[in-house]
Amino acid sequence: MNVADSEVVASILSPYYFITDSLYEADLILLNTCSVRDNAEQRIRKRLRELVSLKKKNKNLLIGLLGCMAERIKEQLLDEEKILDFIAGPDAYRALPELIEKASLGVVSFNVHLSEEETYDDIDPVRYASNGVSAFISIMRGCNNFCSYCVVPYTRGRERSRDPKTILSEAQTLFEKGFREVTLLGQNVNSYCWKTTEKNIDFAELTEQIALISPLLRVRYATSHPKDISDKLLLNMAKYPNVCHYIHLPVQSGSNAVLKKMNRIYTREYYLERIRKIKEILPHCALSTDVIAGFCGETEQDHQDTLALMREVGYEYAFMFKYSVREGTIAAEKFEDDVSEELKIKRLEEIIALQQQLSLESNKKDIGKTVTVLVEGVSKRSDKHLFGRNPQNKVCVFPKKNYKIGDYVEVKILSCTAGTLIEQ
Ligand code: 5AD
Ligand code: SF4
Repeated sequence: MNVADSEVVASILSPYYFITDSLYEADLILLNTCSVRDNAEQRIRKRLRELVSLKKKNKNLLIGLLGCMAERIKEQLLDEEKILDFIAGPDAYRALPELIEKASLGVVSFNVHLSEEETYDDIDPVRYASNGVSAFISIMRGCNNFCSYCVVPYTRGRERSRDPKTILSEAQTLFEKGFREVTLLGQNVNSYCWKTTEKNIDFAELTEQIALISPLLRVRYATSHPKDISDKLLLNMAKYPNVCHYIHLPVQSGSNAVLKKMNRIYTREYYLERIRKIKEILPHCALSTDVIAGFCGETEQDHQDTLALMREVGYEYAFMFKYSVREGTIAAEKFEDDVSEELKIKRLEEIIALQQQLSLESNKKDIGKTVTVLVEGVSKRSDKHLFGRNPQNKVCVFPKKNYKIGDYVEVKILSCTAGTLIEQ
């Protein structure tokens, strides 16, 4: 999400600035921030302290803070972090030229206005950090779900979908420029809905239209909320081989009591039924998830229920977190953060160890198979090898031969680790 936002910011500022890789050369440094967990915010605070010496050396240097942290802490942040010249929330990027202009005249200012409409749909993102093969396309912004632990609905505002015409033309242009994979992004992509007087376009239809651009363009998406992963979408995924059979479906917890407290709106049974349906319609679909360890009131049995659910699903991959209290959320106001830090760490370690085992088991099943890989770059470990991903989003490493970045390559898997499928 933040990469996609930074690409929008780069586009808005492209008439005024060009991008440099060197901090020492920069006249403007922008930090795009995330507030989802406290450690993300602490990392930004640390980074700001590191930038103090640069600011002393270059009197013209302007430093701005963007994104969710700007939204969450607002004016207080300008008081606490004297190094900042301006801050802009996630819906205020169009105001950046103005904020920068003021800052260059010595006026410290902020814009954290949250919009009900802003989708930056007319802005063509600058893919400055891209590999030229895969790109993110933001299709909606905001979230209406109010999971009790989560700060996103407060920092990114209400859910709004982007005009499908602009999404399609962005995908088409990317394909023409040589990109071979687009990931449709939103906090909750499956509730994408574009309303017109004639008909509404939902996420399944949008995915279908993008898949039809070319069979050579892979389509991925993230993130899905279990409440609205529809059979219609799964059937469309089965119809178009270029819609990758990989679904990121955050479960957060395997315990009904915890899910209820989290305001996730589904039960363990409902979630497992959706997984059963996915496996029925898309037998080779890879699954990943998000899990939170140590949410308020989580008992040992609740934790065991999470582990059991993970085993039952057999996820290919998981993003795993310790619960971190976020000020202003429902959980922070209503529930006690009563699982000790040691216990959170212990449970998180157990979750990570189990996932490691599940990822390895899943990769072992691929040994002997031939998979189609989209080449993304040279392997970090050896310049004689390339890497890319198969449709299931698994990283594959294989000998370079004459392949180029952006090619589709058939790779025979001979060995694996928990994180990689390997040809040789
Ligand atoms: N503490 C820990 N993890 C959180 N997430 C969101 N809010 C919190 C929090 N307060 C996790 C969820 C979500 C992912 C993006 O971040 O698992 O799916
Ligand atoms: Fe946060 Fe829940 Fe919205 Fe995801 S669905 S962004 S966890 S409130």
